[in-house]
Amino acid sequence: MATRDSWVSNLGFVLAAVGSAAGLGNIWRFPWLTAENGGSAFLVMYLLLIIGVGVPGLLAEFVLGRRGKQTPTGALRSLIGSPEGPALGSFNVVTTIVMLSFYSVVGGWILRYTLVSPVGAYFGQPAQYFGQMSYGLQAVGFHLAFLAIIAAIVFFGVSRGIERVSKVMLPAVVVLLIGLAAWTMTQPDTAAGYAFYLGFDGEYLAANFVSILGPAAGQALFTLSLGAGAMLTYASYLEDDASLPRATLVIAISNTVIGVLAGLIVIPLLFSQGIDPGQGGPGALFVALASVFGSLPGGAVVATVFFATVLLAAVTSGISLLETPVATLVDEYGVSRRRATVGVSLLIAVTGGGLALASSVFRFVSGPLVDIMLSVGLFAFLAIAGWILRTEAIEEFSAGAGRLDALATPWVMTVSWVLPVVVLFSLLSTFTSLAG
Ligand code: PFF
Repeated sequence: MATRDSWVSNLGFVLAAVGSAAGLGNIWRFPWLTAENGGSAFLVMYLLLIIGVGVPGLLAEFVLGRRGKQTPTGALRSLIGSPEGPALGSFNVVTTIVMLSFYSVVGGWILRYTLVSPVGAYFGQPAQYFGQMSYGLQAVGFHLAFLAIIAAIVFFGVSRGIERVSKVMLPAVVVLLIGLAAWTMTQPDTAAGYAFYLGFDGEYLAANFVSILGPAAGQALFTLSLGAGAMLTYASYLEDDASLPRATLVIAISNTVIGVLAGLIVIPLLFSQGIDPGQGGPGALFVALASVFGSLPGGAVVATVFFATVLLAAVTSGISLLETPVATLVDEYGVSRRRATVGVSLLIAVTGGGLALASSVFRFVSGPLVDIMLSVGLFAFLAIAGWILRTEAIEEFSAGAGRLDALATPWVMTVSWVLPVVVLFSLLSTFTSLAG
């Protein structure tokens, strides 16, 4: 068998992993959920969950990936044996395919908005524009274009494709977001937005603690790309000398900064135009932002920069979703990377195309189904790292960890006892919201 591809540098791994984490979840889902769930109260809960659940959970996935040195199917087979290992690995493959099917449709919307923003095509009638382009044949076309971009990157492999692209795109996303956040500060009438987002409201938090916990936990998993096996796959290309705890902290902090920055742009801008961002779900945020850009001087330029930034972020996340099934075909069946990329992309062209034609199925898949699949996947990873492979997990945590070594035992205890409860709660709240 040919030698496995690997990251050229540990920094390359970190950038690619932040690239996976920072995506539509940060710029599209996070501001919308924050607005819907009381602003600052949600932000506080989310930050607590990132620290308490996201960081240890991500470490669990990294530990399994680097220990197994394979994609989820092979890694879990060698770590816990058949048939449970491969079954869970296959579940991960299905999860990433389902996710990329919807992610690529939204990526297509973003691609379209990036291309038409310079001429302000949607400025006149933002709601109608969104309605016409979001589902149907045009949406299928843009979904295919977005998918083609991702496939072209994965085609070239881990070091020559994913790592190279992430090294350029991720810093670009950060710089552009900082620029946009600074520009937002110069806009009039944004004070109420900043107050809503940053002014801590303890009473609201106390009164709505339980109802905020579910969506905040779901968002913490989604934004850190947890439970899909994509982070496990990325860690499988990592050398043994890298410190996993340190890398995890850097990745989680960078991803959080990117999410918070996005909120500093979207929320004040919406408030500045008197739009209540908590109303009407994800599509509404699209429409609302589009109308904000339409009514600002220089709006076409800002809109173009904004959507281009979102597009870059979506691409670096999309590639991690495609890499997981592609690498599984390569590792497990010896298929060449190029063939595997073309094959999996053709499949997603069809499944995503179907979603772009059926808005109600799309809503179910992009919301509850994905949340459920990620929670189930993460629950299984936690059980393996915390219970089945505890000794190996501690060993892997400590390899190259330096002084953070001392945290290995508290980490494994958190993974075994605290995290499964939170993940189950999040799962339960998704089911309850489905029933309600
Ligand atoms: N973390 C990505 C985002 O916030 O947009 C979404 C994601 C990518 C989830 C890859 C899971 C995954 F495996």
